[in-house]
Amino acid sequence: MATEFTPRVFSGIQPSGGLTLGNYLGAIKRFVDMQAAEFETIYCMVDLHAITVWQDPGDLRKNTRELCAGFIASGIDPEQSILFNQSQVPEHTQLAWIFNTVARMGWLNRMTQFKDKAGKNRENSSVGLFAYPALMAADILVYHATHVPVGDDQKQHVELTRDIAAKFNHDYGVDFFPITEPVIEGAATRVMSLRDGSKKMSKSDPSDMSRINMTDDADAIAQKIRKARTDPDALPSEADGLKDRAEARNLVNIYAALDDSTVDQVLTDVGGKQFSEFKPMLADLAVAKLSPISGEMARLMGEQAEIDKILARGAERAREVAAPVLKKTYEIVGMVS
Ligand code: TYM
Repeated sequence: MATEFTPRVFSGIQPSGGLTLGNYLGAIKRFVDMQAAEFETIYCMVDLHAITVWQDPGDLRKNTRELCAGFIASGIDPEQSILFNQSQVPEHTQLAWIFNTVARMGWLNRMTQFKDKAGKNRENSSVGLFAYPALMAADILVYHATHVPVGDDQKQHVELTRDIAAKFNHDYGVDFFPITEPVIEGAATRVMSLRDGSKKMSKSDPSDMSRINMTDDADAIAQKIRKARTDPDALPSEADGLKDRAEARNLVNIYAALDDSTVDQVLTDVGGKQFSEFKPMLADLAVAKLSPISGEMARLMGEQAEIDKILARGAERAREVAAPVLKKTYEIVGMVS
């Protein structure tokens, strides 16, 4: 009989820059939903992943604390969920080493995120950037997590995690690691750039007008939405009408996700309207939903000692879950202790 695993959610975000609306709608908002459901929830600032590309140490420290503030301001309760930074739980890297020996070069060679991030500069990329997905598998499996909420761009990595778990179980003749489910749901699993509907909204885009940052004030949010690229047509009344209209689709998806509704519902209300009318509606909604979060983030950033305490406590709780899984893994592999 297959092992029953406790329903447990794990997900992570890199503290490699400010949080974007993409991170919020594609990930954090979903994390909050899953915290409210019947799951144990573990959320991580993956600082070890961040340094696979160069991070200034002062920025990394600030971004880790700001990300923690972003989680809490968005509704993650550090008592209910476990909230911590990856480097403080050494079991992640210990299990990642085992997974480096399980994952195959060919599997990692297929990872599109590595190809995108390394670009033409492959030979000069860090070894860590290449091995990144094995560490991500360890993040997830060191907690025996059964569900991983992520944006669409992380799907391939979660599939690799499943492959690693299956190969480990097969090679050692055990049923030890769960085959984790990716949870990629909602209207905004892939928020696109406000300047180019074919590109993902990203903290690394050189144009700040391409994204909404979770720290943007009301004026900045309104201005970015006003200037967002669109087409000249009115909005359609059905989702089908957004098919070849990437920019229009993106704005409608964002509206639906912020409003906790669906694209169909939104189009029932706004179908036939011009963007000159829809954009101010979207800007008002975005400001109403995001301003309380950015305000709370700013307040929390003034309480650094409190944030550091939350992270330290989170790491302690995370280790209580991770340590026995690592110990058992070592036993399975044949490490003498
Ligand atoms: P990262 O830090 O790039 O992004 C964090 C989360 O935000 C989602 N996301 C988006 N969703 C919708 N639209 C967008 N434009 C957008 N941009 C980002 C991402 O899909 C992700 O869910 N490898 C991961 C971090 C990680 C992780 C893990 C995730 C490390 N270990 C274990 C889950 C489980 C990453 O780079 O995410």
